[in-house]
Order: sequence, then C-alpha cells, then structure tokens
Amino acid sequence: MNNETLVQNKKSWDKAAERFFARNPLPEYGPFAPTEEDLQLFGEVKGKRILVLGCGSGHSIKYLDGKSPSELWGLDLSHVQIQTAKHLLAESNTSIQLFESPMEENPGIPSAYFDIVFSIYAIGWSTDLRKTLANVFQYLNDGGLFIFSWEHPLYNRMSHENGQLVMTKSYHEEGAYNHHAWQEPATMQQYKLSTYINLLIASGFHIEQIIEEVCITEEDKERHSNGWYSPDKASLLPTSFIIKCRKPNI
Ligand SMILES: C[S@@+](CC[C@H](N)C(=O)[O-])C[C@H]1O[C@@H](n2cnc3c(N)ncnc32)[C@H](O)[C@@H]1O
Repeated sequence: MNNETLVQNKKSWDKAAERFFARNPLPEYGPFAPTEEDLQLFGEVKGKRILVLGCGSGHSIKYLDGKSPSELWGLDLSHVQIQTAKHLLAESNTSIQLFESPMEENPGIPSAYFDIVFSIYAIGWSTDLRKTLANVFQYLNDGGLFIFSWEHPLYNRMSHENGQLVMTKSYHEEGAYNHHAWQEPATMQQYKLSTYINLLIASGFHIEQIIEEVCITEEDKERHSNGWYSPDKASLLPTSFIIKCRKPNI
C-alpha cells in the first residue's frame, strides 16, 4: 500500500475504530435511512456467497450469518476493525474470510465468485472510486448484485440553522477534503450523486434502484439527538443514498 492518503487514513481509522463498533450495521443502511427489513434489497441470502467492502467491526456479517449464506467475505482498511470482526465472528459456522486491505486493491479475492457485494457507509472513503467499482464488477458473478449506501452528497454541503437549510459548500465541488471532525487527520472523498451513477454505468453495472428516503423513528430521534445527523435536518433533506445495481448476465 503506497498511497499516502490510505496510509494516513488507516492510522486514523485505527484510532477512531472503537467509536464506530456496531455503528449502523445491517439491517441498517445509515442514520435515518430505511433499513434492509423495509427495503428487502438483498432478496434470498440462503446459499449465497457475499462480500462486504469496509466491513468494520463485522456486525453486518454477523447479521447475515444468521440467514444461512454459503460464504461471507469481508475487507477493511483498519487493523483494529478486522481484529474486532475476527473476534466477533469466531464462533460462526459459516465459512468466513476477512482481509485487512483497502478496497482499492485486491488482496486475493477471486473473480466472478460472488452473488452479492455490498458496502455500508464506507465507499466514500475510497481514494479511487473507478478502481473500487472495477474491483466489485470483477468479483461478482454475472447477474450478481452490488448494494451500497453512503452519506447523501447534499448532507454535508448544507447546514441547518433556525429551521432553514443554508448551502455552505458548492454542490459542484468534488474530490478529496480533510475530515476535520477527528483529531488524527483523515481524508474523505466527495462526489455528486450523478458521478456515482455515471461511474457505475461506465463500469458496466445496470442500476435497479436508488433510495433517498428518510425514516425518522422515535428511537432514532433519541439516538441522534446531539449528533451530526439531526432529525430536524433529516426531515428536510436525505441523510443517505442507497444504490442497488447488477452486473448484467451476458
Ligand atoms: C463507517 S465504517 C462502516 C462500518 C460498517 N458498515 C459496519 O457494519 O460496521 C467505515 C469503514 O470503512 C473502512 N475504510 C476506510 N477507508 C477504507 C478503504 N479505503 N478501504 C477499505 N475500508 C476502508 C474503515 O476502516 C471503517 O471500518
């Protein structure tokens, strides 16, 4: 791994990891987003080979483990996250493979092998979205599904002040920016929704569904009462987007 941003982000994630253990794993797609229980994007999981990019502490894998998939694979940049996931999943009866690796690189994942690849709130960390999507396309079987969620590109470009939304950053601005919220420097990427869509199309995917809805439950209101994701702001614009797409059958 000789990309400076990835080396820095790995250090940063290793420090921050603990705060994110079990944060928004499946069936959740993100704060105030509808859940997999609402959306049923995966369909039948039994007997399927599934890979997750940015598997974090392994809680999404744990959720799927209860649904009899044939194999569960995960990768994550952070050593701390992968060690936590290994510990969490140690008792599983499913075949599980975990890699400490950036999603931009292939650490030894087979081609044309998976029925489903998914990623929850991790894809926006990719320093090379085109390469990451090409990897996903390569890992999938013909007809295989790719499902991912990320923060909606409008959410961090707008602030919510006195009941009004104020544009604080241009929607047109794309690329790397410093993630100021952490003590240890980290670099995130920002793209327009159309960039995600156009790169998926250019990578060969057929897009089946894009979800921008919010779902504000009483429990979520309490959970996010003081955070970056606020129910008041979420009632005016989406916090997350979710895309379901497919590698077409040849
Ligand atoms: C917000 S967490 C997602 C957690 C995950 N959804 C879960 O269920 O626990 C984002 C994850 O992306 C990982 N990450 C950041 N940059 C990455 C990269 N370039 N390649 C792979 N994983 C990365 C982080 O280490 C972190 O575990």
